[in-house]
Amino acid sequence: MNTKTNIFVSHPLLLSSLQLIILMMFVTQTQPMRLHTDSRWIVDESGNRVKLACVNWPSHLQPVLAEGLNKRPLDDIAKEIVEMGFNCVRLTWPLYLAINDSISSLTVQQSFHNLGLSDSLAGIVLNNPSITNLTLIQAYQWVVMKLGENNVMVILDNHLSVPGWCCSGSDGNGFFGDEFFDPEQWLEGLAKMATLFNNTQNVVGMSLRNELRGPGQNVTTWYKYMQEGAERVHSSNPNVLTILSGLSFDNDLGFIGNRPVSLTYNGKLVFELHWYGFSDGSAWASGNPSQVCRNVVNSLKGRALFLLSHGWPLFVSEFGIDERGSNENDNRYSNCMFGLMAELDLDWAVWGLQGSYYLRQGTVELDETFGVLSFDWSRARNKTFLQRLQAIQPPFQGPGVSKVSPYDIMFHPLTGLCVITTNEAQPQLVLGSCLDAEAWGYDKSQQTSTLTSIKTDLCVEAQGLGEPVTLSKVCSSPSVSWEIISVTRMQLSSRLADSTAVCLDVGAGAAIVTKPCECPDDGDHTCDPAGQWFKMVNSTRSYKSASVFSRREEILQELM
Ligand SMILES: *[C@@H]1O[C@H](CO)[C@@H](O)[C@H](O)[C@H]1NC(C)=O
Ligand SMILES: *[C@@H]1O[C@H](CO)[C@@H](O)[C@H](O)[C@H]1NC(C)=O
Ligand SMILES: *[C@@H]1O[C@H](CO)[C@@H](O)[C@H](O)[C@H]1NC(C)=O
Ligand SMILES: *[C@@H]1O[C@H](CO)[C@@H](O)[C@H](O)[C@H]1NC(C)=O
Ligand SMILES: *[C@@H]1O[C@H](CO)[C@@H](O)[C@H](O)[C@H]1NC(C)=O
Ligand SMILES: *[C@@H]1O[C@H](CO)[C@@H](O)[C@H](O)[C@H]1NC(C)=O
Repeated sequence: MNTKTNIFVSHPLLLSSLQLIILMMFVTQTQPMRLHTDSRWIVDESGNRVKLACVNWPSHLQPVLAEGLNKRPLDDIAKEIVEMGFNCVRLTWPLYLAINDSISSLTVQQSFHNLGLSDSLAGIVLNNPSITNLTLIQAYQWVVMKLGENNVMVILDNHLSVPGWCCSGSDGNGFFGDEFFDPEQWLEGLAKMATLFNNTQNVVGMSLRNELRGPGQNVTTWYKYMQEGAERVHSSNPNVLTILSGLSFDNDLGFIGNRPVSLTYNGKLVFELHWYGFSDGSAWASGNPSQVCRNVVNSLKGRALFLLSHGWPLFVSEFGIDERGSNENDNRYSNCMFGLMAELDLDWAVWGLQGSYYLRQGTVELDETFGVLSFDWSRARNKTFLQRLQAIQPPFQGPGVSKVSPYDIMFHPLTGLCVITTNEAQPQLVLGSCLDAEAWGYDKSQQTSTLTSIKTDLCVEAQGLGEPVTLSKVCSSPSVSWEIISVTRMQLSSRLADSTAVCLDVGAGAAIVTKPCECPDDGDHTCDPAGQWFKMVNSTRSYKSASVFSRREEILQELM
């Protein structure tokens, strides 16, 4: 399988597939979307920021087909991805799809038949009849094409070598030289995939290898092969971003600080990081959330976040939680994670789209509790989680986003909502969509500052325990003076007239109220202050000059 043409001539085509193939060729001839980097930002050909807000879609498990095609037509799934606000898919593939003919030349039907997945196959025949007789590599191209028709960008992610669930430290797929990870085969596979999708309009990047790991991993070998892999991809396909994973399950890129990656080309290098709750064991559940958040973010600075200030984009290409809401470790992590994602305005890909797997680790139709979609793929699994993702989909800043002078957005990571004002005679502060976020002026360089609505010049004033805050014309009393407290820098504290310290919180009807500050840094592991976490996020997005009264009822309905 050296080129696209080879694939098509080396396997007999069935008439039912012919139209599809012609369409694919047509699509692949249109202008590719070329992204490049501009310091830490990913930008388009006009230099405007393109924020990657992606969802992972696995296609690397034993059947080697994008999950869920037994549940819904592909075009529906692609449209659902767009409707949920994602602009991109990180589409996984196993190396064997590219280099092992005994796999790439199987038809979808044969692959499912061989695994005894007759019910899944029946679902595919029903929902996506045109793919049953495609080979696995053709089916992969077909998924890319359909995403392209819906203007969804694709990042090809080489997830492992042998089709199956990933990743363990001892599965033979972890590092160069492992049982199933021959560097030469890998380089060959990368070149083939890069060539196959050269000039495919919506393929904008390649993740060279997912989660390098295991006892064999070391920095010297990382540079040797990752640089070689990036060069191979670039020479086969100069359009794509080359995305490099760190060591230790893509938790560690700290070594880049000591030795830069050396490539013959510029403007295409991106680093990827994975960050889950379980990346830190059960630290979140067993510690005080503020302290754990501070510690984990500090550790991430040395392992990855420093890359931003060194002028490299950082793509958080996997993160996610058990969306049932019952895993305390995940819940606590998610509040810290969403705060950081917003603050740094990172590019990202959530794990994952899939509500279920055809076959994972021996279980047929396994439910994915981290899936953005429900088990039957028909709807969002958890609307609150989706809302939180949607808050960080549009960029807050970066080239081309700078429409107005910098201001702050008050982002509430727990809900994915932002502080907005209503335009009633007596304006009120409530949580609402971040698209309608109020623009705030807050001087972070001072110990305390007023919190001023830029549109109206009114100041936020604390009124009493449990009472909604108000907007005041007089911006000089102590109760309009706000301090960012706690090691998380996410609690905003002021003093009432009687000098009681209070913190911003969310009350009935999503109103912004003041309450006693919850466990600021007292180390209590049973106390979770995240309801009081507001992240002040730099933004240069243009904001509406009219306020958003019309949406208020809608917002309240959603929240209550
Ligand atoms: C190709 O895949 C088959 C099935 O997994 C495997 O038995 C075979 O060893 C692979 N061949 C190579 C060259 O990796
Ligand atoms: C797939 O090919 C088989 C023959 O192998 C044929 O019976 C079947 O109708 C084809 N299915 C589709 C959907 O084209
Ligand atoms: C680095 O990793 C490679 C591949 O696993 C191995 O061959 C080499 O011995 C390792 N080097 C060190 C210094 O550990
Ligand atoms: C890939 O496409 C570019 C044009 O975008 C072309 O210059 C180059 O020759 C192609 N590379 C390969 C390996 O086909
Ligand atoms: C969604 O997640 C929240 C926690 O963020 C949880 O309270 C709720 O029960 C979850 N809903 C569903 C339908 O799982
Ligand atoms: C936010 O803006 C301030 C002032 O321009 C700047 O000092 C700070 O580094 C910015 N923070 C982030 C996370 O971009």
